[in-house]
Order: sequence, then structure tokens, then C-alpha cells
Amino acid sequence: MDILQAIQERHSVRAYTEKKIEEEKRQKLEALIRECNEESGLDIQICYDDPDGFDSKMAHYGSFCNVNNYIILAGNPSDTLQEACGYYGERIVLEAQVMGLNTCWVALTFNKKNVKKMVPNNKKMVLVIAIGYGETKGVPHKSKALESFIVTKGEMPDWFRKGAEAALLAPTAINQQKFKMGIRDGKPIIRIAGKGPYTKIDFGIVKYHFETASGHKVY
Ligand SMILES: Cc1cc2nc3c(=O)[nH]c(=O)nc-3n(C[C@H](O)[C@H](O)[C@H](O)COP(=O)(O)O)c2cc1C
Repeated sequence: MDILQAIQERHSVRAYTEKKIEEEKRQKLEALIRECNEESGLDIQICYDDPDGFDSKMAHYGSFCNVNNYIILAGNPSDTLQEACGYYGERIVLEAQVMGLNTCWVALTFNKKNVKKMVPNNKKMVLVIAIGYGETKGVPHKSKALESFIVTKGEMPDWFRKGAEAALLAPTAINQQKFKMGIRDGKPIIRIAGKGPYTKIDFGIVKYHFETASGHKVY
């Protein structure tokens, strides 16, 4: 599976099997996380075989089951922290999918007290990503029509259409998909559209999907 296939096949998975993540995959994930941290200045880390992160009533209500591994997204407080967590977190999510693992972004339904203990005091914890072998592969989310996300009139170049289609497959909080896309001076533009929870994180995720599928950097 390559990243483009991973974009198609990734769906949120909330129930996991007991199967442990193999040593070889752990090493790959850790190398990728190191790379993401170096590039972004974030403090991303991964915890294995630790059920305490999702040991809470909230996680139960959120229908999470058997989450034993999770990625913590944190960093220095700044205006761009949330977007960066979305962007680099999704890079890890898609690589994990390529490795045959399943994931789910989680902003609310985890045990914040237990996870916070792992984050250095001077860093801000933003959210986590559950990771492991899913009981299922998840199901595709519902999406509005592609055209309703596009603000530029006229024919779409092929690369733009590919990017836009991948953006619609991106996970967003409560599947809100609050963004619009367009082209200005030949360059792709994506903007948050409307209010909602965690839209800045969504924006980073959507941007990563668009750039990966279109081969064009979003400004
Ligand atoms: C920033 C963010 C926060 C999320 N928080 C939660 C959460 O707290 N609990 C949960 O069950 N799902 C959470 N999700 C998962 C979304 O509900 C899911 O991505 C969305 O419904 C689209 O479905 P898909 O990921 O299967 O495509 C979150 C997703 C994102 C992007």
C-alpha cells in the first residue's frame, strides 16, 4: 500500500485487538516521529502497551475499546501549534495505515490526567491518536459534494482535483469538514470556513492530504 491508497483506506477505528505492534514497526514509527519532531519542533511521542491513556468513562462512552497504544501530540504553546499537530499527526497516521495499522484521532474521549503525566511541564498537550490493530478497518465517512468545497469558478486542473478529493477523505473533528479550497495565481489555497471545535487541527490534517495527493504546497 502507498500513501495515496492509505488516504483512501484510512477510517477511524475505535476498537482494537490484543495483537501487539511488532518491534520492526515500532522502530519505523519512532524514526518517523523523530523526523517529524526535528522538522516541526513539536514534541510528539508514542506509548505502547499502556491501557491507562484510555482508562476512563469518557473513552467508554466514546466507544473506544482495547486502546493500548497511542501517540501524544504536544509542543510549545504558539498560534500554529494546533495546525502543526494536525499536519504532522496525519503524516504519521497515513504511514501507520501503510504498515497495516489502524488509528483514530482523539481530542476528547481519553484519560487526559494519565496522558498529561507523560508530557513535559513546559509543553502543551493538544490531543492523542489511538493506534493498533483494529477489530475492523472502519467505514468511510459521509461527505458533502466536492463542488460545495470549491470557491474558484471554472475548470479544475487535474492536480487540484486530486488534492481536493483527498482533502475530502481527511478525518475532521465530528466529521465537520469546515474548510473551502480554491486556486489563486495558480496556487492552491485552503481556508477554515465557519466555526467549530478543533478546526485548526482539522486544517493541518486537510492540508497534509491535499499536498500529498496533488504534489502542490498549500499557502
Ligand atoms: C481533531 C479531531 C478530533 C477528534 N476527536 C475525537 C474524539 O474525541 N472521539 C472520537 O470518537 N472521535 C474523534 N475524532 C474522529 C472523528 O470523529 C472522525 O475522524 C470523523 O468522524 C471522520 O471519520 P473518519 O476518520 O472515519 O474518516 C476526531 C477527529 C479529529 C480530526
